[in-house]
Amino acid sequence: MKKVRKAVIPAAGLGTRFLPATKGLPKEMLPIIDKPTLLYQVEEAVNAGCEEVILIISKAKEDIKKFFVREESYEEYLRSKGQNEFADEIKRIATLCKITYVYQNEMKGLGHAILCTKDAIGDEPFLVILGDDLVINKNGPTASEQLIEAYNKTGKSILGVQKVSLEATKKYGIVDPISEDGRLIKMKGMVEKPASNPPSLYAALGRYVITSDIFDLLETTKPGKGGEIQLTDALKRLDSIYAYDFIGTRYDIGDKFGYVTAIIDLALDRDDLREKTLSFIKNKIN
Ligand code: UTP
Repeated sequence: MKKVRKAVIPAAGLGTRFLPATKGLPKEMLPIIDKPTLLYQVEEAVNAGCEEVILIISKAKEDIKKFFVREESYEEYLRSKGQNEFADEIKRIATLCKITYVYQNEMKGLGHAILCTKDAIGDEPFLVILGDDLVINKNGPTASEQLIEAYNKTGKSILGVQKVSLEATKKYGIVDPISEDGRLIKMKGMVEKPASNPPSLYAALGRYVITSDIFDLLETTKPGKGGEIQLTDALKRLDSIYAYDFIGTRYDIGDKFGYVTAIIDLALDRDDLREKTLSFIKNKIN
């Protein structure tokens, strides 16, 4: 069985839920305090063992490239000002792994975005981390590590899921399960954003390991919900597919309230900000 060596991070979407900030600023670059969301995801891919990250962008989102490019003159400037820690950090970011950029020139949906990586991926399984879904598992393996471990056992495409409220099922791809074995769920199929009667409460939340046979299926997948080529529609045509109920707190950074919760939670997790943030919140409540 081939190892998962490559990760795909789709980041070409328009981010209309976060306008006007996302006119000009890619939503994947929205900072969680001082660290862009996308950096969390590239680090998650590297820590899960990926050697290469393929970032799906568009012409309008080329600013993303600036963040990951090595700028030695800037590092030298920071060192000359005694800012060695920042110089080390921007060097670390620029040398994390090989980053390849693939362009999605028309916004035809997530399935279409993934299809754009066909040549860059070739014939191997790959990890997908959605550019606006942040998952933090403070004291254990990341969502991507959990999924890759499950993939290594099954050898089949596998979706990262968590249970959501009945009300929330209409926002996500929802799993139709056959059987459950601990956190691993064998799937019959799935339904994209069901308006009513969802087949379960398990929602696909921005993490996947996908086998390369998906590309042939994507090529023949017709536009579905919203006129977009849905990844879900191609995934459910695979011969065999699993879901994994991963451990971790998930934040939807493309949603305003999701973004607020991420900032508060991560500030409370940081030694330099915890006390100040807590006392600020306590004062507000009083
Ligand atoms: P979303 O549906 O959340 O992104 O896609 P969006 O279209 O940018 O969001 P809104 O609804 O307009 O606010 C999830 C991820 O897939 C990427 C997005 O960049 C996001 O990271 N995506 C989506 C693409 O790369 N291409 C697409 O055609 C659609």
